[in-house]
Amino acid sequence: MKGIILAGGSGTRLSPSTDSINKHLLAVFDKPMIYYPLSILMLAGIKEVMIISTPEDKPRFEKLLGDGSSLGITLTYRVQTEPNGIPEAFIIGEDFIGNDDVTLILGDNIFYGQGFTNLLRKAINHHEHATIFGYRVKDPRRFGVVEFDSNQKVVSLEEKPDDPKSDFAVTGLYIYDHKVVDIAKRLNFSQRGELEITDVNKEYLKRNKMHVQLLGRGFAWLDAGTHDALFEAAEFVKNIQQRQGFKLACLEEIAFYLGYITKEELREKGEAMKKTDYGQYLLEIAQRKHTQQYWDSIDQNPILGLVQND
Ligand code: G1P
Repeated sequence: MKGIILAGGSGTRLSPSTDSINKHLLAVFDKPMIYYPLSILMLAGIKEVMIISTPEDKPRFEKLLGDGSSLGITLTYRVQTEPNGIPEAFIIGEDFIGNDDVTLILGDNIFYGQGFTNLLRKAINHHEHATIFGYRVKDPRRFGVVEFDSNQKVVSLEEKPDDPKSDFAVTGLYIYDHKVVDIAKRLNFSQRGELEITDVNKEYLKRNKMHVQLLGRGFAWLDAGTHDALFEAAEFVKNIQQRQGFKLACLEEIAFYLGYITKEELREKGEAMKKTDYGQYLLEIAQRKHTQQYWDSIDQNPILGLVQND
């Protein structure tokens, strides 16, 4: 399974904050926005990730995350020259995807909820063809909308409908087989001048190969595409972190608990950032004694258990 984060776009809805920088590099409380989708791909167990951004911003992402080796993963970078829509990511990433399946996540999407790692890993392991995630929202007209029957079988898909057939938005997290590349290549531009991910999903639906996984009321799905949404996302992250003392989307913590980096490497990262709360958090984890026992006591599954609960 390959992973793609789409972090391009013009970010006009966040102007002037994004006039000189890509929106996905803005902070959501205490870390750059792109940490959140990257954390999801890491938790899903995906180790090969391609980040797609604009020509100007590519070097900035490279500076931030490098080749991924400090997190025990492989990161590669590609450019989307124009904001031509989400499916273009599959055309850009054709050789990267090869014959593998691929999970795409939008760079401004934040997912949070107990059990999400398990759910995602199950979805990836059991998926055939195409899986999307549905989430109930107050105003579905802003999103792709999925209608399904009582067996969670998709009945219809519409992009930003005036009259939505359900309250379930399609989130910015998509799992496909490699056929998505050919499907993306055959799409036509929509009225808003983009290739639409909903058209990809409709094609899978037409082939009777689309599955929807619902995220229930205990989940949080946020995007950070407007000033209000960005502020709300930051508040959400701050509140959870402050209350529980656990950080969301702490990439080094995830890498450590997944066994990708050693305690020593974690400590070194913490030392380099020790003037910040983030750095102190890494040092605290590195100092924890009996990590393995603590881990095992939380859940029978050491990897998933600790990450979800810790
Ligand atoms: C895009 C998709 C839409 C999806 C949304 C999720 O919308 O087109 O189907 O529900 O992402 O964030 P856009 O960001 O282009 O408005």
